[in-house]
Amino acid sequence: MSIDIRVNEKEKEIFFSLRTLNSEYQMKADGFGVLRHIWYGEITERDMDYLLLRPDVGFSGSIYEAGNQRDYSLDTMPLEYPCGGVGDYRVPAVKVTHSNGSSALDLRYKSHNVIKGKYKIPSLPAVYAEESEAETLEITLGDTASDTEVVLRYGVLGDKDIITRSAEIRNGGEKEIFVGKAASLCLELPQGKWDWIHFHGRHAMERQTERAPLFHGIQESASLRGTSSHQQNPSFIICSPDCGERHGECYGAFFVYSGSFSTQIEYDQLEQTRAVMGINPDLFGWHLMGGESFYTPEAVMTYSGGGLGALSRNFHKIIRENICRGKYKLSERPVLINNWEATYFDFDGEKILRIAEEAAKMGVDMLVLDDGWFGKRNDDCSGLGDWFVNEKKLKGGLGKLAEKIKGLGLKFGIWFEPEMVSEDSELYRAHPDWAIAIPGRKPTRARYQLVLDMSRKDVRDYLYDSISKILRSADISYVKWDANRSICDLYSAELPPERQRELSHRYVLGLYELLERLTKEFPEVLFEGCSGGGGRFDAGMLYYCPQIWCSDDTDAYERTKIQYGTSFIYPVSAVGSHISVVPNHQTGRITPMESRAVTAMAGSFGYELDPNSLSDYEKGLVSQQIQSFKKYAPLIHNGKYYRLSDPLRDNYALWEFASEDRSEALIQGMIFRKVPNMKRISVRAEGLSPDGIYRIEGREGTFTGKALMCGGILIEDMWGDYKAVEIHIVREG
Ligand code: DGJ
Repeated sequence: MSIDIRVNEKEKEIFFSLRTLNSEYQMKADGFGVLRHIWYGEITERDMDYLLLRPDVGFSGSIYEAGNQRDYSLDTMPLEYPCGGVGDYRVPAVKVTHSNGSSALDLRYKSHNVIKGKYKIPSLPAVYAEESEAETLEITLGDTASDTEVVLRYGVLGDKDIITRSAEIRNGGEKEIFVGKAASLCLELPQGKWDWIHFHGRHAMERQTERAPLFHGIQESASLRGTSSHQQNPSFIICSPDCGERHGECYGAFFVYSGSFSTQIEYDQLEQTRAVMGINPDLFGWHLMGGESFYTPEAVMTYSGGGLGALSRNFHKIIRENICRGKYKLSERPVLINNWEATYFDFDGEKILRIAEEAAKMGVDMLVLDDGWFGKRNDDCSGLGDWFVNEKKLKGGLGKLAEKIKGLGLKFGIWFEPEMVSEDSELYRAHPDWAIAIPGRKPTRARYQLVLDMSRKDVRDYLYDSISKILRSADISYVKWDANRSICDLYSAELPPERQRELSHRYVLGLYELLERLTKEFPEVLFEGCSGGGGRFDAGMLYYCPQIWCSDDTDAYERTKIQYGTSFIYPVSAVGSHISVVPNHQTGRITPMESRAVTAMAGSFGYELDPNSLSDYEKGLVSQQIQSFKKYAPLIHNGKYYRLSDPLRDNYALWEFASEDRSEALIQGMIFRKVPNMKRISVRAEGLSPDGIYRIEGREGTFTGKALMCGGILIEDMWGDYKAVEIHIVREG
């Protein structure tokens, strides 16, 4: 596992190979200095550049130096960081406009550098690693006709089968240049026919899985909403048509970024595939002065020759161990109860205490006070921005309430929506220019609120001061960081006209800066991300918040599909998931308490209900569920995750957690609809030791790992719909 670089003096070529445990990435700077992509896939023990040979480029042009060489065209070859304007007509990775108005860029190899450890990206979240765990390759390219340079950085985390990517665009000249596009990743797959998997959705229906064969032309998944969005997730998978959970080839990438993004996948005239992922260029533009650099956010890639399950597990590990940070990164999360679905805005201190009292008796660890505790906030029309306690509702303030809750043996957590402002608020009346709005136009309201201009230092300072004051005023162990609308009307009162296109990215940088300050200042506090549920569920936010509220949809049946899609990229420990009451508040569906529990256990686990409304029987169930979650939490969060069904196709959703040492596994899930005279459902376990002897809790006999993995386990026949499945497998020998 390493970065290997070889120079071919005769051909004037430099060959780069990045090796991980199960994959190899090859590229070469050819005799013209063009950085060509060669290979990403299995380790073949051979330079794969023989695959680049083409007989004739047809109607495509050649670079000048290639003369009449009819087999050399930028338009037909796989490239590491393609640029527009000089003969490659496919999706570019970078676009720059020079001071003379021209927009061409022709990048050629200048130098390279190998560094121990993993590179960092100024002001942006990124994968971090011990020096012994990673290596960095930097390749510097320079434009043939200007002083623009691009430094491509590759972070290789060999043992984890991960390669990270980021680019730095440098203006080495004196005159300003304009960067119109700066992608983070270009992934070329010159051979093969592929399917594309992406995760689309809407509010309360996030990350629905869609898989389709690539068609000729450009297909895109993107967000222009200022956040990574409910509608598309900043991640993708490209896989062979036969690829399943356990077999087939697949490539995946996710973006460590929380703003507008774009993934364009072009299946070109020669049936080569190019995927370009980065900040959405439709809402981007950056003025780069002489001597300045622009750094793209990071993209993280993996390859699996053994199916989608292995690809997901690579991503789960890297996110959990090398992106999430802080006290709760790997440690057990508190079982919380959140009052949102229990009370909405209709609460006071007494009501919250009654919830806390019952919750404490059932074994809950923490009470989270959601929206409505501050300013004049009795519904969603007012109060955002006024981060001081509403003493009418909470007599004696947060300190008192937190103390009483602590007295019951619970921790106390609290909700904020820092990036937003209500027009009916003291903050807006004092600083109307802090809200994003275009002069002369009425801003779009969403949930009656406007968005604060996070690119402004004064706005961030205000938020830092007011949030940290609250966090110091009481014993607060948790913050839910919500953001309940998309961003539009892009205009900052602080930026000059020519820099307005920078706002969208500056907003994200501002958000990260504030989160960095607060998480550093309050390392003991568990931050949970949220955006109207899972509207900003991305690796950028996970750098600051180790868990994110997955969806406002708490209906267990729908959740299995949302969590299924989420699991392709993100680990279970990142998924905020709660049990709520039935009929469910989003769908009216009635599902058994046990099924709601197993679904919430495939996440951070908690409750979102008023325990005073539960029967004694239900309260007993809650206590058992909490005990059971605590027993399984290390296996659930540290174990390997396997998808055992496709809930979009099958009449059931089943998944499994298997311990790394293969000593234990837990299969959980739900059978959706009961039909009469139902055929038996059997499921094949994963991640066991083939020769190991296993017992299934509550069943007779023992089984070899092979029997359970090749033959399977029969699921009990159950009466009624949406019935929970829980199978605990323990190794005996
Ligand atoms: C949206 C979140 O997803 C909910 O859980 C809740 O916190 C509301 N916002 C509060 O306004």
